[in-house]
Amino acid sequence: MKPETAAALKQIDKRGFLDIDLDPTLDLFAAIERLKKEKNAVLLAHYYQEPDIQDVADYIGDSLGLAQQAEKTNADMIVFAGVHFMAETAKILNPSKKVVIPDLKAGCSLSDSCPPPLFKKFKEKHPDHVVVSYINCSAGIKALSDVIVTSSNARIIVESFPKDQPIIFAPDKNLGAYINKVTGRNMLLWDGACMVHEIFSLEKITKLKIRHPEAKLIAHPECEEPILKIADYIGSTTGLLKYTKTDAAKEYIVATETGILHQMMKSSPEKTFIPAPPNNNCACNDCPHMKLNTLEKLYLCMEYEVPEITMEEELRLAAKKPIERMLEISAKAGL
Ligand code: 13P
Ligand code: SF4
Repeated sequence: MKPETAAALKQIDKRGFLDIDLDPTLDLFAAIERLKKEKNAVLLAHYYQEPDIQDVADYIGDSLGLAQQAEKTNADMIVFAGVHFMAETAKILNPSKKVVIPDLKAGCSLSDSCPPPLFKKFKEKHPDHVVVSYINCSAGIKALSDVIVTSSNARIIVESFPKDQPIIFAPDKNLGAYINKVTGRNMLLWDGACMVHEIFSLEKITKLKIRHPEAKLIAHPECEEPILKIADYIGSTTGLLKYTKTDAAKEYIVATETGILHQMMKSSPEKTFIPAPPNNNCACNDCPHMKLNTLEKLYLCMEYEVPEITMEEELRLAAKKPIERMLEISAKAGL
């Protein structure tokens, strides 16, 4: 091993990724395909990843689809092109497999908004409540939860509890408020939110709709209520993608992270997709955490099998229960 490679490997905890200069002539797509075969690795990617990563993935999906794929894979190594909580979920379901992520620092503002020690105290104040947590949370929060949900199954899972069952919903207050509205529940909401989905400007979207009167507004339920109120369709990333494939409209304003537009444009090249504008002039509807992963980091993490997701067994077992409950309910519902 070259001394600079050994030094980079030692730095991984601090940097979060392997910082090694690559030969610029290296065909990364071909190299990643070769590594997949050599290592019997499966590459799972979320829709918010950059287009190059999506194009080289074995499976691209939303949080539920990714968890389901992770649960059933026969691969020896899971390469998770997404954020930390997603790769962590894959590890929780596959303790004997190696799970690697291109950048260990690819976190999530929503997950960070719910620290386990604070949430534990909050939960203790409401002992009669069950805890339903959105998958965008740490293993520590999962371990404190009765069941996990994603934006694809939150409604059916909440509805699986009796109407009079008090529920705490964490960590996303926007998704929680939306589920309260569609189910008629009154869940107690943790005050967390996603930095990307709270950035959309109602005023700019309204103006955009005037210029594109035929365009439909489609939104992720992590968006704030005023945006959801004027949306023509609300759904998870997979839900939004499916909708654009089957719906008759030709133009869509898309209120979620921009990465999903790649699959929308690939599936419906004849349609126009406009990213919903943020309330300032930056490209803040790009998730800075998701976008930490690059094709170079992806190649390096497969080649050197680091950074790896690890976790204490006690925590893993506690976090696994509510995830399995979610997967069971979803399978029964045909999701
Ligand atoms: P889904 O892909 O499950 O809709 O989640 C969106 C998201 O914010 C992931 O971080
Ligand atoms: Fe977290 Fe929001 Fe980024 Fe998803 S888009 S990973 S919820 S910060």
